Amino acid sequence: VELYGATRRNSLGLNLADEQATAALRPALSRAAPAPDVRSIVVDDAVGDAPRQPVCSPADRRRVLGTWTPLPSARVTDVVGAALAAQAAWNAQGVGKRAAMLERAADRLESDMAGFMRLAIREAGKTAPDAVTEVREAVDFLRYYAVQARRLMARAEVMPGPTGEHNELQLHGKGVFVCISPWNFPLAIFTGQVAAALVTGNAVIAKPAEQTNLIAWRMVQLLHDCGVPRGALQLVLGAGDLGASLVADPRIAGVVFTGSVEVAQAINRTLAARSGPIATLIAETGGQNAMIVDSSALPEQVVKDTLASAFGSAGQRCSALRVLYLQNEIADRTLTMLRGAMRELVVGDPAWLRTDVGPVIDAAAQQRLATHADDLVRQGCRVIERLEAPADGAHGTWFAPCAIEIDRLGRLDGEYFGAMLHVIRFDARALDRVIDEINASGYGLTLGVHSRIETTWRRVQQLARVGNCYVNRGMTGAVVGVQPFGGEGLSGTGPKAGGPHYLLRFVAERT
Ligand code: NAD
Ligand code: ALA
Repeated sequence: VELYGATRRNSLGLNLADEQATAALRPALSRAAPAPDVRSIVVDDAVGDAPRQPVCSPADRRRVLGTWTPLPSARVTDVVGAALAAQAAWNAQGVGKRAAMLERAADRLESDMAGFMRLAIREAGKTAPDAVTEVREAVDFLRYYAVQARRLMARAEVMPGPTGEHNELQLHGKGVFVCISPWNFPLAIFTGQVAAALVTGNAVIAKPAEQTNLIAWRMVQLLHDCGVPRGALQLVLGAGDLGASLVADPRIAGVVFTGSVEVAQAINRTLAARSGPIATLIAETGGQNAMIVDSSALPEQVVKDTLASAFGSAGQRCSALRVLYLQNEIADRTLTMLRGAMRELVVGDPAWLRTDVGPVIDAAAQQRLATHADDLVRQGCRVIERLEAPADGAHGTWFAPCAIEIDRLGRLDGEYFGAMLHVIRFDARALDRVIDEINASGYGLTLGVHSRIETTWRRVQQLARVGNCYVNRGMTGAVVGVQPFGGEGLSGTGPKAGGPHYLLRFVAERT
């Protein structure tokens, strides 16, 4: 894409249908790699000696992939101090140098695709296609934000000077940003947050999800190898309490958070209550995402898009389809086809290239989903299909795809983060009520519409309060620089990741 004078294209990834490409990948995936012992990367190297924690594969918890050591919360003061000390020099380096470092990192990441895919598969339970997407998206964020930062920051904007004076508007880094990321995009979202904050001239303290420290550690090493100074980018490993301590530090200028609504609200409260500057909060959270299908839709397409959107990535995408609204006239036929298609899904070890659905991240996630499905059954809801965990999966954490019919959205008390699809039938005359019901959930992340009647999908688009509305296609997998991604209401504060306005939230404007 020709963009503001620079040419950029999204990563092509890896074609898994190409035998040559997969032959090269297989050894990297199957090789018994050494189990790294990872620690926080902070300027003074003082990371404490807390007991090491094992990193286990969600597909088989007996498989220890490495170990990590939590950073004591007492170290936060020094880590923030070191970031503050480094920020002015990092900001003064200028956007050209910072953007070039990101682009070097993108090239390096792309050339080590198999190594990073291996970690995404083993540590996060991603299937091979999802692991390709994961690496591609991280590469795309690095390149896209490099281009966007040059566009915004390379030159000051000269403003009018009506009385003969010279006025200009400059953009600078705000200070120290804390980046807190989830396990479900352990490379892509981690890298996207860090890249955006760094390239705009902020010093970064990155805290990845405690479930996926290995891949984050490797990415930070790569960024340091590409020239990012250690003071400008520190990695801290720990659970939510460490994140909470960072956010409470009054010297933090901003927080970029992706994760659950509850944690975003807790961070918001902490930022409001602490002393110090009024900090920026960028929060990207969950969704109660629906797809509305009317009787003009093509059932084969609806089933294909439903499978991908609800069960792809084991349903562990914030954008995933949770509630399928089917117009009465086509509901039975579509559900029969959906049941048949679900039975074709391969649930299993994500290291097999034929696997469609891998494990969920941990036992807590598995338990929450299973209890929810059992509760619905106890309440008398009809099971459309409920697949089994793989026979050889006794040591993994699985929630196999499940579709259950419910009568109304109000039956759901929040986001169920896994391959759990709820189906609701609706009357054609009640389309506006369906949209009201979706809006009333308070979430506003993604929405799908399947209809061949233009006035119908346009009406849905117009009334629905969601960040990303997809028409006659699946509703996951937003592409950087193509479908800027992010929600509203309970789903996030904006701006949209991978979009042209994202970086503006990371900068201070000075006249
Ligand atoms: P989570 O909220 O439990 O954790 C996210 C991060 O916050 C982790 O690094 C965790 O250690 C940290 N954390 C936990 N408590 C904290 C606290 N009190 N203060 C500061 N940090 C704290 O979420 P998760 O389970 O890792 O991820 C799944 C959630 O993320 C889902 O709700 C999903 O919808 C959401 N998500 C949203 C997007 C989006 O772009 N909108 C993308 C991916 C995931
Ligand atoms: N950006 C991711 C998607 O669109 C979450 O699925």
